[in-house]
Amino acid sequence: MPYPAGLLDLKEISEIQIHELFKLSQFIKTAKGKAQNSERHEFSRYRGLTAALLFFEPSTRTRFSFETACARLGLHPLVLSGAEGTSLSKGESFEDTILNIQAMNPEIFVIRCGDHSPLRGMAERMKKPVINAGWGLQGHPTQALLDAFCWKEQIGDLRGRRLLIIGDIKHSRVAASHTELSQILGYEIAFCGPSEFMPESDRFHTFKSLEDGIEWAHAIMVLRVQLERHAQKISLDSYKTHYQIGKNWLKKMPESMCIFHPGPVNYGIELDQAVSTDPRSQFMNQVEHGVWLRQALLQKILEGVK
Ligand code: CP
Repeated sequence: MPYPAGLLDLKEISEIQIHELFKLSQFIKTAKGKAQNSERHEFSRYRGLTAALLFFEPSTRTRFSFETACARLGLHPLVLSGAEGTSLSKGESFEDTILNIQAMNPEIFVIRCGDHSPLRGMAERMKKPVINAGWGLQGHPTQALLDAFCWKEQIGDLRGRRLLIIGDIKHSRVAASHTELSQILGYEIAFCGPSEFMPESDRFHTFKSLEDGIEWAHAIMVLRVQLERHAQKISLDSYKTHYQIGKNWLKKMPESMCIFHPGPVNYGIELDQAVSTDPRSQFMNQVEHGVWLRQALLQKILEGVK
């Protein structure tokens, strides 16, 4: 089965292809810093070629990790970071911006944009692969993949493992992509949070009580409360009382628990700062694994194009 020609959502990739991706990510991770022949080979293979990293919405982790991945592959990144300094600020459209950059012939596109942007329609018109780097509320496939890769590195096979996703599920593209990925890799997910943060679908089990949810879980994924997306005012005090992961929870959670957060974190709201330095916290580990995973994904997709 050929590797997907791009990645807009996780329905486009099979379990076997994900395991191939993890294997290559793991190879890159092991080879890191050693300047092995294989790395030099990859570097020279892509030298002189470009990748268009078009971030129509803000990003730190995803943008810089794709830039790092490109640098390690020898691909020169063409980076758009918001409208400032581009003709978007003069009213040029999403579509025209992409078509003009396509005319410069980059090998691949990595795009972050809002729900209102017609990413799928554009990708169908384009001649080169497109990777979704976070598309509104619809999905963030490389984030879910890097989370799973990072978790797998900690515990091995994910089949039958239980991930509790806590907080603002309704506004989370990361949760949306984990609902897809869990079906492929066979881990279970459940949600925990106040009813106004829960999705409309009742496909997944939801816990009202954090205590019950944590008791059930092998790992937790804490999400940022997306204050900017709530039309109705929410009570942060009530949220913090019932769902904030603080020092008290660190004492109750087993040693084997992994604590994930895709970032950026609102410390003092969904998490206490003390959690970030607990050995069970995977936040920086996730970021590191994100570079290896994204480097492997770029390489796999580009190999499929050749
Ligand atoms: N996790 C994530 O997508 O972070 P950024 O918005 O900083 O890229």
